[in-house]
Amino acid sequence: MTIHIGAQKGEIAETVLLPGDPYRAKWAAETFLENPRLVNEVRGMLGYTGTWKGNAVTIQGSGMGMPSLSIYVNELIRDYDAKTLIRIGSCGGMQEKVKVRDVILAMAATTTSSPSRGIFREVNFAPCADWSLLQAAAKAAAGNDANTHIGGIYSSDVFYDERPDLNEQMVRHGILGVEMEAAELYTLAARYGRRALAVLTVSDHLLTGEALPSDQRESSFGDMVEIALEAAFA
Ligand code: HPA
Repeated sequence: MTIHIGAQKGEIAETVLLPGDPYRAKWAAETFLENPRLVNEVRGMLGYTGTWKGNAVTIQGSGMGMPSLSIYVNELIRDYDAKTLIRIGSCGGMQEKVKVRDVILAMAATTTSSPSRGIFREVNFAPCADWSLLQAAAKAAAGNDANTHIGGIYSSDVFYDERPDLNEQMVRHGILGVEMEAAELYTLAARYGRRALAVLTVSDHLLTGEALPSDQRESSFGDMVEIALEAAFA
């Protein structure tokens, strides 16, 4: 057990999928895993362990934003020795070619993030995905119905942004989408020598204002979970 995760050592798999929403962890575990078992409910941040095609997998909610994700990922790596960590989450589209329901494989995550700023100060560290996972996810995506994009994303610290000029610069520099967690996941994976990737579903669009209707969310999020699982065990 750790401060924020109630699971015993051995109850967390080496491969962990990380949705922000704990109820999405429950849904993904019950939909995609064989024999899913609740292993964490501290603070309602549900985590399940089961198997996928015989491989052990944990699906653990990370909460919203980098400070929350940082707590779970630090404990998953340092206390449970998680080796492969894949964020499965939603993002806002930032390019015309990126449509709602599309999947983004985040090659790199630009951020103004507070968790890593304390370490890097004047250095602009470039948080990037693990190449083997990214390559495997690209292959898995090619066999999936979802329209997939691979490129840079923006990990913001704010959902209700008072600096629209920052989003404008991201759009101008080809950033595909905005979310709030991947940069810290990539930074922690780099620090501890683990594999990390973010597979994101475009749930809304900053340029068009379009949003995924709630009744279509599950099927769209399913593509992302399938790609993440296939990539993890390729
Ligand atoms: N901003 C930040 N995070 C998000 C968004 C957004 O528009 N959509 C989904 N996650």
